[in-house]
Amino acid sequence: MSDMAVTREVFDQVMVPNYSPAEVIPVRGLGARVWDQQNREYIDFAGGIAVNCLGHCHPVLVSALKEQGEKLWHLSNVMTNEPALRLARKMVDATFADKVFFCNSGGEANEAAFKLARRYAIDHFGPEKTQIIAFKQGFHGRTFFTVTVGGQESYSDGFGPKPGDIDHVAYNDLDALKAIMSDRTCAVVMEPLQGEGGIISPDADFVKAVRELCDRHNALLVFDEVQTGVGRTGALYAYMDLGVTPDILTSAKALGGGFPIGAMLTTDKIAASLKVGTHGSTYGGNPLACAVAEAAFDTVNTDAVLNGVKERESWYREGLEAINAKYHCFEQVRGKGLLLGCVLNETFQDRARDFLMASMEEQLMVLVAGANVIRFAPSLVITKEEVVEGLARFERAVARVVNG
Ligand SMILES: Cc1ncc(COP(=O)(O)O)c(C=O)c1O
Repeated sequence: MSDMAVTREVFDQVMVPNYSPAEVIPVRGLGARVWDQQNREYIDFAGGIAVNCLGHCHPVLVSALKEQGEKLWHLSNVMTNEPALRLARKMVDATFADKVFFCNSGGEANEAAFKLARRYAIDHFGPEKTQIIAFKQGFHGRTFFTVTVGGQESYSDGFGPKPGDIDHVAYNDLDALKAIMSDRTCAVVMEPLQGEGGIISPDADFVKAVRELCDRHNALLVFDEVQTGVGRTGALYAYMDLGVTPDILTSAKALGGGFPIGAMLTTDKIAASLKVGTHGSTYGGNPLACAVAEAAFDTVNTDAVLNGVKERESWYREGLEAINAKYHCFEQVRGKGLLLGCVLNETFQDRARDFLMASMEEQLMVLVAGANVIRFAPSLVITKEEVVEGLARFERAVARVVNG
C-alpha cells in the first residue's frame, strides 16, 4: 500500500464530492510553514480555518500527544478519565462556566447547546418555549439542527423538512430582534464576531442589549465561540472583552490545536437539564483529544500568548494597510486579534477567491469568508519573520490580481 500513488486525482475517484480541495497536497508542517508533496514550501495564514492556534507540530502538543498515546487512547463515557477531568477543571476555572460537555467538533458542541437550551426552557417554563433566534449569515455547523440555526439557507435547503421554530434576524439589528422576541423565546444564538459570514463585529451596545432582552424574556444567550475561542481575538474567549456573559458557550477548532475536540460550557443550573441519558457522544472526552487540548489550553491561556495576539494584529493591520495604499483593492480591514478580513471594494466585487488562488501561486495559504472577504486566521504564535514574508507574498498575489 505504501507505494500507492497519492495524487489529487484520487480525491475525485474515491471521495464524496462535497469538497473541492486545492490541487496541492501538503505532507508536513512546522510552525506557520507547510510543505507539499513536491517539497514546495508555503506560509500558512489560514491555520486550518482558525484551528492550528499554535501552528503545525508545536513541540508542546506533539509531546502531549506522544505521552498520552503511550498511556491510554479511549474508554468511552462508561468511564471518565484524567485528561478530560483536568481539562474540564481548567476550562471551568478560566471561564464563567461551572460545567463542561465534551464532544468532537463545533457542530456537535452547538448541537448539544441547542438541545440543552430547549430542554432547559421546557423543564422550567413549559412546552411552548421553544423558539430559537439566530442571525443571518451566522454559521454554527453542518448537522441538520445547527445548519438550520445557521443563517444561510443555501446550506440548509434541499434536505427535506427542517427542525422547526427557528427564526433569523439581521446581525446588529436590535429592533428586528426586539420585534420577534417574546416569552416564547428559548434562546438567542450568536457568534460574538461572525466568522464565516464575513468577519463582522457586533456593535458595541448590541451584545449588551441582546443580553438584556434575554434576561427580560427568560431566554438563554448562547455564544458560539467555535471560531473566536481559545485566544483568537486576543482574549481567551471573545465574551471576556465584550462585557457580557453568555449562559452557554461552545468551543472547538483551536481548542485541540489541530486535534479534533469540541466543548459546551454552561452553568450548574442550566447543566442540570442534561440528565443522565439525555445526550451523549462515544468519543466525547476522549483521553488523547483532552490531553492535547489541555496542553493547547495551558499554552494559549497565558498573558504572553494573548498579548502576543494583539501585537500580531498590529503587524497584520499595518502590512495590509500598506498593501492597500499601493493597490487600492480593500474597502476596509476588519476583525479582531488574529481573525482578520480584507473587504474588497467595488472594483473587486465577488473576487475573494481570485486573491486566494493568486496567494497559493505565491506560496501563501489564506482563506475567504464569502465572496468579498479575504480572511486570515494564522497561528497565534506566528513569528514576525513569517508574518513579514507572508505579507510580501500576499502583496505579490494582490499585484497579480490587480494587474490582471
Ligand atoms: C462559528 C462556528 N461554529 C461552528 C462551526 C462548525 O464547526 P465544525 O466544522 O467543527 O463542526 C464553525 C466552523 O467553521 C464555526 O465557524
